[in-house]
Amino acid sequence: MTNPSLHVTGLAGLRRDPRLIVNGRSIFLAASLCMLAAACDRAPEAGNGSTESAAVAAPEMSASTDPLILQAREVFKPIPIKAPDLPGNPATEDKVALGEMLYFEPRLSATHSISCATCHNIGLGGADNSPMSAGFHGTRGARNSPTVFNSVFNFVQFWDGRAKDLEEQAGGPMVNPVEMASPKQHIASQLAALPQYRTEFARAFPGEGAPLSLDNAQKALAVFEATLITPNAPFDRFLRGDPAALDATQKAGLTLFMNKGCTACHSGVNIGGSMYAKFGLVAAPDAKYLPAGDKGRGAITGDAADDYFFKVPTLRNIALTAPYFHTGSEQDLAKVVNVMATAQLGQTLSQPETAQLVAFLAALTGDQPRIVQPQLPTSDANSPLPDK
Ligand code: HEC
Ligand code: HEC
Repeated sequence: MTNPSLHVTGLAGLRRDPRLIVNGRSIFLAASLCMLAAACDRAPEAGNGSTESAAVAAPEMSASTDPLILQAREVFKPIPIKAPDLPGNPATEDKVALGEMLYFEPRLSATHSISCATCHNIGLGGADNSPMSAGFHGTRGARNSPTVFNSVFNFVQFWDGRAKDLEEQAGGPMVNPVEMASPKQHIASQLAALPQYRTEFARAFPGEGAPLSLDNAQKALAVFEATLITPNAPFDRFLRGDPAALDATQKAGLTLFMNKGCTACHSGVNIGGSMYAKFGLVAAPDAKYLPAGDKGRGAITGDAADDYFFKVPTLRNIALTAPYFHTGSEQDLAKVVNVMATAQLGQTLSQPETAQLVAFLAALTGDQPRIVQPQLPTSDANSPLPDK
C-alpha cells in the first residue's frame, strides 16, 4: 500500500525538470499533474500508511455531469466522514479517550504548563495563530505550528518530513527541548505517578504486561489525532456532486487554482501533504518568508539538492490558520497566494484573481472537531512537581 517511490519521482521531477526554471509552465504542469495525480490518489494510504480502508476513505459521491466537478475530481478527494484506521494501531474507544487525555495533559511537559493543545489548539484550526509557538522554540529550526487537523492524511509529518507518521511524530514534542522538554523517563514516571493513568493505559492496551509506556502514549495520541479530521467543507460537498456548494467567486478561484497549476503541488485529499517541493522553485521569495538558515528537507537528507524543499502543506482550513509559511511570517492570505504564484509558478495575479483564489481557499474550511475538554487524573501527595 505504500509507494514512496511515487513521491520521490515527483520530487526529482520538480527539482530537475529544466522547464520549471523558465516559463514553459504548461508542459511542466501537464506532466507533473499526471505524475502527482498518481501519487495523490494514494496520498491517504501512502507514505505513513495512515489509512487502511479505502471504503472509509471514499465517502459517497453522486454522479455528476458538471464539468468543473469532473475536472476537480481528477485531482482532489473529499475528506472522509469517519476517522481513518492506523495500521497496527487499531482505534478503540478507550485508546482514543486516553489519547485525548494525553493531548490535553500539561504534565507531559517539564514545566507542567504546555500540552499538545497549547500549540495545536482545537479551537484555532488545530494550530495556534502564532508565528513561532509561544516562544518555546529555540533559534535553530524555529517554525510555525502546522495544523494537526487532517494531518493523518499527510504522507509524512513535520515541515521537513522527519517523522514518518503520527505515532513517530508524537514522540518528538514531548522530549524536544524547545517544546515540552521532558526527558524520556520523566514522561513514563510522571504518568505512572498518577494512578488513574495506570488504569487508563491498561484499558487502552489490554493484555499487555507493561501497558504504561512512552510507546503506548504515542500510539494513543496518534489514534486520537486521526479523529481530528474536518469533513464537509463546501469544497467537499462540491466534489461529492453538489454544484451549489461553491458560489461563483469560489468556482472561479477553483478554476484558477487548477489552471494556473497550484494543483501541481496542492492536490489529493489534503490539497497538499503528499509531496515535498522547493519553496522558491521559480523565483526566490523574500528572505522573511524563506530565511537562508532553514534548509528544510536538505538538513535532514544532507543532500544539497534538497535544500529549501518543504513538505507541501495542506490547505485544508487554511483560512483559520494564519500566520502562514514554515516561518509564520505572513498574516495575509492574499499576500501568501501572490507569493505562491510568483515563487512557485512565475506568474503575477491580478487583484480579482487573488480575491477569487482566496475565496476558494475559504471553501476548504470543514466541520471543526468538537472536543469536550477531558477530565485529567488528579495530582496527589506522591506526584512529581514541575521543573523550575
Ligand atoms: C511548543 C509548541 C508545540 C507543542 C507543545 C507541540 N507541538 Fe506539534 N508542532 C509544533 C511545531 C512548531 C511543529 C512543526 C515543527 C517542524 O516541522 O519542524 C509541530 C508539528 C506537529 C505535527 C506535524 C503536522 C504536519 O503537518 O507536519 C503534528 C502531528 C504535531 N505537531 C502534533 C503534536 C502533538 C501530538 C503534541 C503533543 C504531544 C505536540 N504536537 C506538541 C509545535 C508544537
Ligand atoms: C511547486 C509546488 C507548489 C505550487 C505550484 C504551489 N505551492 Fe503553495 N506551497 C508549496 C510549498 C512547498 C509551501 C510551503 C512553503 C513554506 O516553506 O512555508 C506552500 C505553501 C502554501 C500556502 C501556505 C500554507 C501554510 O499553511 O502556511 C498557501 C496558502 C499556498 N501554498 C497556496 C498556493 C496557491 C494558491 C498556489 C497557486 C497559485 C500554490 N500554492 C502553488 C508548494 C507549492
